[in-house]
This record gives sequence, structure tokens and C-alpha cells, in this order.
Amino acid sequence: MSALLRVEGLVVEFRVGGWRSPPLRAVDDVSFEIGPGETVGLVGESGSGKSTIGRAVLGLQRAAAGRIIFDGDDITDRTASQRRELAKAISAVFQDPYSSLNPAISVGRSILEPLLVQRKLDDAAGQLKAGELLEAVRLPKDVSKRLPHSFSGGQRQRIAIARSLSTEPRLLVCDEAVSALDVITRAQVLNLLEDLQSRTNVALLFIAHDIPIVGHHARRIVVLYRGRIMEQGLTEDVINRPLHPYTRALLAAVPLLDPEQQSARRESRAASVSVSTANAAPPPAEGCVFAPRCPYAADVCQTKRPLDLSVSGRTVQCHLFDPDSGHPQADAELSALDRAASS
Ligand SMILES: Nc1ncnc2c1ncn2[C@@H]1O[C@H](COP(=O)(O)OP(=O)(O)OP(=O)(O)O)[C@@H](O)[C@H]1O
Ligand SMILES: [Mg+2]
Repeated sequence: MSALLRVEGLVVEFRVGGWRSPPLRAVDDVSFEIGPGETVGLVGESGSGKSTIGRAVLGLQRAAAGRIIFDGDDITDRTASQRRELAKAISAVFQDPYSSLNPAISVGRSILEPLLVQRKLDDAAGQLKAGELLEAVRLPKDVSKRLPHSFSGGQRQRIAIARSLSTEPRLLVCDEAVSALDVITRAQVLNLLEDLQSRTNVALLFIAHDIPIVGHHARRIVVLYRGRIMEQGLTEDVINRPLHPYTRALLAAVPLLDPEQQSARRESRAASVSVSTANAAPPPAEGCVFAPRCPYAADVCQTKRPLDLSVSGRTVQCHLFDPDSGHPQADAELSALDRAASS
């Protein structure tokens, strides 16, 4: 399958502090692909650079290095007017629908606008299509005269989805699109997204900090830490057999339903793979960014940046991972955890 989106060695930097201080590297040499109609999840804790990658793909953030290829075209340095043309093909839904819905404009108008301006439909065809879109996100047509504030959070997110799909995009960047919703509304909106995706074949860059949600919806997962990719691969592989200690820590932080299993795991984890977030030292200038928090870090992790290792269709960035034997120390601890949880 040839990629719809290819991100190659993307670097994004921010100038914080004065001229003399080095820029903050929020995204550091990030590469991944999304196929047509595919969902790829981007996970990682707060500040790991997820939104910055999404913004770079949307052309809202300049890349300091690397390339963004969409449908075979290099779109990294497109001008604002070229980007407007691309906005039809690459759309977005954000956590706060207020950021994409004008509070002073009726919902019907909000959905109609891109149909008239970007798809150049006439008023009658636009009205018809806007009605269809509202129906597709399961909202009655008669809501179109209401202003965004008169809807619930879940309904507003449906409206934002309808608006984002109005240009028939091929790629949708969903940045924490369901994170602020309650569990039931979140499930409804996610089901809706999946349904719309199977009808339109739109690809999703699904950004969230919650690994189970991403795991449930994405075909492939990219795990990010401090702007670097720790590992990526098919969701079932990454979730069932995480290769990087950071992915293991992310998964170990997900609560288990059974309280006894949860408490057994908590005790075992305290003695083994517990990864402290509170006292993490800044990453070494040259080493692995995860080294200060990694329970297995060796000397090499402090001094040399790990490269991507490819292992049966997935990649992992860890000095201590051996493609033949795996991650022996972590594997032993993981099986101890499994035994504790199942006893
Ligand atoms: N406009 C900006 N100016 C300066 N620094 C920024 C800017 N935007 C982001 N950053 C920094 O870049 C890093 C990555 O931020 P980003 O918003 O991409 O993280 P994130 O993974 O989306 O986090 P969250 O889960 O909280 O949304 C952070 O250290 C953040 O402080
Ligand atoms: Mg974010």
C-alpha cells in the first residue's frame, strides 16, 4: 500500500528564552506513514510533541528539518495560498470544538461555509449537502439555526466532525478529539468516526494520550516521548508485546478492571518496572531521551543516541533491545508481573 502521508525526519523547534539560548526541540527526527483509509495513533504523555506533529502536518507549524509528503507531493514548505488548496484534503478536529466553530455563527452556516467556499457548491446544493452531513453525524436538520453554545460537548464535537468532513478530506487529524467527553459520549463519537471512515475512506491521524483508546481504534501506533519516537508498529504487536520500556510503562499505568489483579500488579511494579515521572532528570544531551526515567538504563544510554531498529515490521529505539533475544531483563520482569497478576 503506498502511503497517503509520509513524515520523514521531521524536526520542529521553538524559540523559548533569549536569542542566545538554544531552541526547544519539540519534535526530533520523527518518521511515520499513514496509508489511505488507515488510522494511525500517536500516543505519549503531555508535552511529548503530539499536537506539534499534527500542526506541522496541517501546515500550522513550520518544520525546521525533514519532509512531509502528502499523496506523493512534498508539502513541507507550501505557501499560505497553496495550503488553502490543501485544506480541502487535510482537515482537523480538535479537543475544543470552539476552536473550529465560530460562536457567533449558526451551526448550519458553519457547515455550509466550507461547502460554498472550498467545494464551490451553489447555495441550494450546499444546503442539501449540509443537511446530509448533519444527518451523517446523527443530528437533526432543524438544529442548523442554533448557535454552538446551545449544544452539549458531544453534540458540538459531532458538528465539528461534520464541518471537517464537508470538504471530503482524505486525511483527518484528530487531536484529542474525544478526550474531554464522558465515557459514553466518547464511545458514541468514536463509533461515529469509524462509521464515517468506512463510508468515506478518510485516513486518520489519531492523537491521544490514552493508549487504550488509541489501541482500540488505530491499526498502527506510534509511541512518542519528548519529541522522539520510542517505538511504532501494528497496534496488536505494540500493545501485546511492547518492546520499549517507555511503552511498557505507559501500558502498566493503565488500570486493570479486577482490583486484585490491579493491586498485585501495583506491588510487583513497585519493585520492578516502576517509572517515576516526578523526579525525572533532564535527558542527557547526547543519549537516549528516556534514560533518566528508564529502570534499565546503562552507560551507553547516557552517551549515545539510540537508532531505530527494525524488527518484523516495527521499529524500536532502544540500546538494550536485541533483535535476536529481545529485551532480556525487561522480559523477565514482565513475565514476573504477568505471573503476579494471574496468580
Ligand atoms: N508555540 C509554542 N511555543 C513554545 N513551545 C511550545 C509551543 N507549542 C508547543 N511547545 C512545546 O513543545 C512541546 C510539545 O508540545 P505539544 O503541545 O506538541 O505536546 P502534546 O504531546 O500535544 O501535549 P498534550 O498531551 O499536553 O497536548 C512542549 O514542551 C511544549 O511546551
Ligand atoms: Mg496536544
